[in-house]
Amino acid sequence: MKLENDPLAAFWMPFTANRAFKDHPRLLSAAKDMHYTSSDGRQILDGTAGLWCVNAGHCRAPIVEAIRKTAGELDFGPTFQLAHPLAFELASRVAALMPEGLDRIFFTNSGSESVDTALKIALAYQRARGEGTRTRLIGRERGYHGVGFGGISVGGIVNNRRQFGTLLAGVDHLPHTHNMEHNAFTRGQPAWGGHLAEELERIVALHGAETIAAVIVEPMAGSTGVLIPPLGYLERLREICTRHGIVLIFDEVITAFGRLGGATAAGVLGVSPDVITMAKGLTNAAVPMGAVAVSRTIHDTVVEGGPDGIELFHGYTYSGHPLAAAAGIASLDLYRDEGLFERTADLSGYWEDAVHSLQGKRHVIDVRNLGLVAGIELEPRPGAPGKRAMELFHQCFDTGLLVRVTGDIIALSPPLILEKAHIDEMIGRIGELVEGVE
Ligand SMILES: Cc1ncc(COP(=O)(O)O)c(C=O)c1O
Repeated sequence: MKLENDPLAAFWMPFTANRAFKDHPRLLSAAKDMHYTSSDGRQILDGTAGLWCVNAGHCRAPIVEAIRKTAGELDFGPTFQLAHPLAFELASRVAALMPEGLDRIFFTNSGSESVDTALKIALAYQRARGEGTRTRLIGRERGYHGVGFGGISVGGIVNNRRQFGTLLAGVDHLPHTHNMEHNAFTRGQPAWGGHLAEELERIVALHGAETIAAVIVEPMAGSTGVLIPPLGYLERLREICTRHGIVLIFDEVITAFGRLGGATAAGVLGVSPDVITMAKGLTNAAVPMGAVAVSRTIHDTVVEGGPDGIELFHGYTYSGHPLAAAAGIASLDLYRDEGLFERTADLSGYWEDAVHSLQGKRHVIDVRNLGLVAGIELEPRPGAPGKRAMELFHQCFDTGLLVRVTGDIIALSPPLILEKAHIDEMIGRIGELVEGVE
C-alpha cells in the first residue's frame, strides 16, 4: 500500500471532528501534575483532568513506578480460570471504598464495558432469582453510559444513537432533571425536581414491574453538561426500585474516586444503589481499567445459587490486567496518602464561589456545581448552536487552559490536587475570554 504524506491521516479519531482537527491539530507531548505540554512547548492548565479521569494529577511518580515494576515482573496473566495477586488486592481495596454491602468487584477495561457488564449482571441476577421475565432496562434522557450497544441503548443522547440502527429492544427512558427555569444558578443540588423520580412509577405502570430488570442513571450526569441531581431525586428512585424489585445501577464512571468529595457519589449523596460502575479515576487513567461493584445479594444469587461450573458467561481478556491492577493499587494509595477526597470536599466551597462569580458575564445563562465539577452554560448563538462554546474552547487552549465543551456548556473537572491559585487562573481566564467571544 502506498504511504500517505500526511502523518495525521491514518488515525480516525474518536468523538472528534476529524476534518477540522486535522486542518488545525492540537497535539499534546507531555504532562505533569496540573499541566499538559503542547507539541509547540506551551504549558496548558488542565481544567478537565484529561477526560474526568486524572484525579491525582499527571504522571505521578508512585503510579509510574508501580506500572514500570509490574511490566517487568508479570506483563500479562489471564484471569479466566487463573489469576494473580494484584487483581485480588485491588478488588479488596475497591470494595473497601464502596457503600456498605457492595463488595464484589468485576473488572473491565473502560466505562463502556463497565456499563454493559452491569446491565448483563442485572439481567443474569433477575433470571437467577426466578424473575426471568424482567428483561427491560430503563435509562434516562441526557444520560451518557459509554458507547457499547447496551450503553447507547439506555443512554439518552440522540447523536450517539441515530447512526446505529435499532439498538437494544425493550428500553425506556426517564425524563432528565435539568430545568433552567427553576434551577438556574443553583449552588449544589437544586431544590426543584425531586418529584421527577416519580416518572419511574409511570414507566412501571406502563410496562409492569415484572418486565423491568434495572434502572441506570448517573448520580450526577457529566458528559451532557453537568446535570446535578435535585434534592430527594435519587432517594425516591431508590425507594421505587426497592419496592418493585428493580436493580438500581449508578454509573459512577466520572464520579467515583473523589470527584464529589468522597469515594463515590453514592456515599457523598447518601443513597446506595445495588450496582456501581467505575473506570477513569480507578487507575488515575494511567492504564485503561473499569470495574463494577455489585451487592453481596446480587453476587451470591448468581454465583452461589447456580449449578457447578462457570456462573457468569462474561469477561474480558484483560479483566484485572496486572499493569492496570498495579496502577489501581498505586492510585488508591495516593488518594489515601494525600487525602485527595477530603481535600476535594474542603476546596469545593472556594470552587463554588469562584465558578458562580461568572454569573453576570456576557452570554452566561447558568452556572452549576458539585464537588470539583462545574457546568457553565452559554446562550447559544442564534442559528449556530455549539459554535460559541467551541470558539471559547479553542481560545482557552490557545491561551493555555484545557476546558471541555458539550453543546454550549463548558464543563470543568480539574485534577483534585489543584490549588486555589489554579482555580483563580481558570475562572479568571474563562471570565475574560467569554466577554470577548461573539
Ligand atoms: C457516566 C459515564 N459512563 C460511561 C462512560 C464511558 O467510559 P469509557 O469512555 O471509558 O468507555 C463515561 C465516559 O465519559 C461516562 O461519563
